[in-house]
Amino acid sequence: MTTIARGPSSAAAEITSAAIASFDGCPDPRLRQIVQALIRHLHAFASEVQLTEDEWTRAIEILTRTGHITDDRRQEFILWSDALGLSMLVDALSHPSANGATESTVLGPFWTPNAPRRGYAESIAESGGGTPALVRGRVLDQDGRPIAGAELDIWQNGDNGLYAVQDHEAPEAHLRGRFYSRDDGSYAFVGVRPVPYTIPHDGPVGAMLEAARRHPWRPAHIHMIVTAPGYQRLQTHIFDSASDYLDSDAVFAVKRSLIREFEPRAADDPETPPSINGRWCLVENDIVLSRLSE
Ligand SMILES: [Fe+2]
Repeated sequence: MTTIARGPSSAAAEITSAAIASFDGCPDPRLRQIVQALIRHLHAFASEVQLTEDEWTRAIEILTRTGHITDDRRQEFILWSDALGLSMLVDALSHPSANGATESTVLGPFWTPNAPRRGYAESIAESGGGTPALVRGRVLDQDGRPIAGAELDIWQNGDNGLYAVQDHEAPEAHLRGRFYSRDDGSYAFVGVRPVPYTIPHDGPVGAMLEAARRHPWRPAHIHMIVTAPGYQRLQTHIFDSASDYLDSDAVFAVKRSLIREFEPRAADDPETPPSINGRWCLVENDIVLSRLSE
C-alpha cells in the first residue's frame, strides 16, 4: 500500500500523482491514457475551483438523480453531454473536415432502434397533426456518384413537440422510419414540418439550465442516420430555415450547411404525393457520404 506523505503544500499533487500511477499497469493502452488523463483533468478542475465538500456532495446527488431519471425512454446522460457542448465537441473531433460530405451533428436522446422499414415517399406519420413535409434528394459520394441501397433512419417530433418515445398517446412507429435509396441514389419520405421543442427540463439538466438562466429550446429539425457499405456512418439533422432558436440551440448542434428551406406547396400542386391531402412543404436535401478510409 502506498503511503502518502501529506506535506502542507504538496498533498494535493501527491494524491493526483498516486491516483494516476495506480493505472500505470493497465494493460489496455487506450484505457490507461483515457483514465489517467481523466484523473489529471478532474483533479485540476477540483483544484481550480477549490471544490468544497458540500459542492462535491451536491455533485454526487446530481449524478445519482441523473441515473435514477434515465431509462429506456429518457436519457439524461446524453442530455448532460448535449447541454454542456460535449456531444458537439466529440462530433468536431471525429469529423474535423467534411471535405464535401454532408456535415454531422448530435444524435440526441430520442433515437430508438428498429424503426419500421418504409417505401419510397411513404409517410412516417402514423396519426394526424402538423403540415406534411416531403423530403427528397439523392445519396451521393464525394464525386457526385449515386449510392444505391443506403439506409436512411429518420425520426422527428410532431407538431405537439414530442417524439414518439415521449408521447404515450402516439403509436411506437409514429414519425420514425427506415428508407433505402434507389439505384439512382434517390430517396424520399413524407414527414411533418418539425417544430421547435424544449429538451426535457424537469430533471437535473433542467435545474442546471434554470440556475444558469439558459433556455431549453432547440430549433425545428428532422434527424437522420445514413449508412451504406464502404461509407462512413452519417448522423445529422435537417434544420428548418424559418425556425426560431437557430442561433441559440440549447445543445449547440446547428451547422449552417444543414439548414434547408421548407417550401410551401398548394394542395393541387402537381408534385403532391399520394399520401398528402391539403397544403404541404417540399424540402430538397441531397446527402453526400464520405468513403471509409482504406
Ligand atoms: Fe431532436
